[in-house]
Amino acid sequence: MHLQVIAQADVDDALDAAIRALQVTAFPRTAEFREHRFFRHQPRAGDVLVLAWEAERLAAEAALYWSRATLEEAGASRLALACLGNICSDPRGDLRGAGYASACVRRALDEGRRGGAAHALLFCQRTLVRYYERFGFCTVDTPFRFTRSDGSIVASGHEHGMALALAEGARWPRGSLELDVDDF
Ligand SMILES: CC(C)(COP(=O)(O)OP(=O)(O)OC[C@H]1O[C@@H](n2cnc3c(N)ncnc32)[C@H](O)[C@@H]1OP(=O)(O)O)[C@@H](O)C(=O)NCCC(=O)NCCS
Repeated sequence: MHLQVIAQADVDDALDAAIRALQVTAFPRTAEFREHRFFRHQPRAGDVLVLAWEAERLAAEAALYWSRATLEEAGASRLALACLGNICSDPRGDLRGAGYASACVRRALDEGRRGGAAHALLFCQRTLVRYYERFGFCTVDTPFRFTRSDGSIVASGHEHGMALALAEGARWPRGSLELDVDDF
C-alpha cells in the first residue's frame, strides 16, 4: 500500500476521475458524487485528500476539510476542527476490509493534528459508529449548523456526529457549533 497526501488544489483531471470513480462505486446513492468529488462543502485550496493506492488502483480515501467553528455559548469562541469526509474503500476485489480505509483515516488524523486542529469531527450512519470508535471517535450530541456557499446557515440533518480530540488536553465543548463549512 502507498499513501498519498495531496492538497485539493493539486488534484489534476486524471486524479479527479480516479477519485470520482471510487466514490460513485462506494457511495452509489449519493447524487453529489456523480457531479463532483465533494459532497456539499466545496473544498478550499488547503484542504487535504489522503489516498491509499495498491499498485495503480485507488483503494480508499479520506478527505480533510479545515474548519473554524464558532461556539456561541462561550462568547462566540472559535474552535479549529479537522472535518473528515468522503471516507470509503473500493468494494470490488479484495480492497474492502483490508485496512486501506483505516490507513487513510489514521493519516488524516495525523494531518489534522499537525495542522493544529483541536478535534477531528465526522458524521456517519449509526451502523458505522463502532467502526469509528476503533479510532477513538466518540459520539457527541452537539447541535451543528453549516454555512452554505451563499453564506446562509442551515441546521445539520445528520444522524450521528462523532469527535476525537487531537490536541493535548482538548475537551469537546458543550453547546451548539456553527461550522464555517457546508455539509461534508
Ligand atoms: C466504512 C468503510 C470505509 C469501511 O471500510 P473497510 O475497507 O471495511 O475498512 P478497513 O479495511 O480499514 O477496516 C476493516 C475493519 O473494520 C471493521 N469494520 C468495517 N465496517 C465496520 C462497521 N460498520 N462496524 C464495525 N466495524 C467495522 C472490520 O470488521 C475490520 O475489522 P478488523 O480489522 O478487526 O478485521 C467502507 O465500508 C465503505 O467504504 N463504505 C461505503 C462508504 C461509506 O459509507 N463511508 C462512510 C462515510 S461516514
